Amino acid sequence: MGKNVVIVGAQWGDEGKGKVVDILTEDADIVIRFQGGNNAGHTVIVDDKKVVLHLIPSGILHEEKTCVIGNGVVVDPECLIEEIDGLLKEGYTVNEQNLIVSKDAQLILPYHKRLDIEKEKLRGTHKIGTTGRGIGPAYEDKVARCGIRCAELLNPTALKEKLKHSIAEKNSYFKALTGEAGLDADEVIEDYMRYAKRLAPLIRDTSIYIDKAMKNGKSILFEGAQGTLLDIDHGTYPYVTSSNTVSGGAATGTGVGPTRLGTIVGVTKAYATRVGEGPFPTELDEEENAALREHGGEYGATTGRPRRCGWLDIVALKYAVRVNGLDALVLTKLDVLDNLDEISLCTEYELDGGKVSDFPTEAEVLSRCKPILKTVSGWKTKTSGTKDYNELPDKAKSYIELIEKLTGVEVILVSVGAARSEAIIRKNPFS
Ligand code: IMP
Repeated sequence: MGKNVVIVGAQWGDEGKGKVVDILTEDADIVIRFQGGNNAGHTVIVDDKKVVLHLIPSGILHEEKTCVIGNGVVVDPECLIEEIDGLLKEGYTVNEQNLIVSKDAQLILPYHKRLDIEKEKLRGTHKIGTTGRGIGPAYEDKVARCGIRCAELLNPTALKEKLKHSIAEKNSYFKALTGEAGLDADEVIEDYMRYAKRLAPLIRDTSIYIDKAMKNGKSILFEGAQGTLLDIDHGTYPYVTSSNTVSGGAATGTGVGPTRLGTIVGVTKAYATRVGEGPFPTELDEEENAALREHGGEYGATTGRPRRCGWLDIVALKYAVRVNGLDALVLTKLDVLDNLDEISLCTEYELDGGKVSDFPTEAEVLSRCKPILKTVSGWKTKTSGTKDYNELPDKAKSYIELIEKLTGVEVILVSVGAARSEAIIRKNPFS
């Protein structure tokens, strides 16, 4: 019987999941994405070459693995084709044998992207800081039951009709919202006919595919995008993305029952970052922020935006343990802390004169929480290149063990650099 592992972000995204998935893919047969879209960005370094993927699981970089885009994902066909072409150009194999897309995944259309940008403008100072990729509006249409799914790419005649109808409807919103003309329906239809032809061979019932694979003893890796605190239900609403980023999303976003998901692994940085707006209790002041940002290369893989940086937040991490049911933690970017004299982590919040140890998800309440920090001395030793846990400096091991003690979850993998090889694997979740 194969083993299954779910990887989720335990913070606000950008935890380094791409690299962890890349490492664990060695032991999986199939990698499946279950939510989000090209708002995600995975940077993987292979043989000194940087590969940035937004939609396709990084498992595509491995020979003989199948990558699946599950029904919970919102697919921008233009981006998907661009990504496929980029990989082909680099010499990777991408075809219907190793990349399949759920017929039930929703399509992102040009009007979603435009609505995303226009709505952000209207929000003014209350903007969310979205990636502008049309993610929210595409999920809105899904829930409003007027979205267009990948299956429709298999029926061009019906697709044309649907597009005509939905573009006319959306154009009336644009007119009302901006006074400007909307999209040229013929142009969009022409583009989507081309995308349909190109992507049709990849589209199928991926729930059946995974079920059969599981029955044949294959191991599945479920690849989460974004992070727990950006979850539409459990994140810092409304400063969240529009999908369920928590482990439960791996079931609904793939058509695999929750009892079959296997080991749930949460990925956290050794500190914290956030992109876009919203409360961030452990955020550092501008000077310290800049230092950590430069050291950690903390700029968005998708938008290039500088990330806000802060100390590791144990209150938030314990929350991620609870809502995901985490069996294990992966700690990334430990090496970014190598030069620091002192390292802090937040163990509780102070709120209205009292102490809080349960993470409040109301943005307004969270914005009033002040971190209560525990400070430890830094190890001031280079950790990148370390292969064995026991070779880490004692103070680095103490930091990791403190995280384990405070969260009650073991750290099974420690990442100490950007390269695939710069990782200490203490326990493989597939074994
Ligand atoms: P959206 O997903 O583009 O709608 O953006 C909503 C919020 O989620 C914004 O604060 C984004 O910065 C954030 N977000 C979306 N995708 C990612 C990601 O992959 N990493 C980090 N933040 C993200």
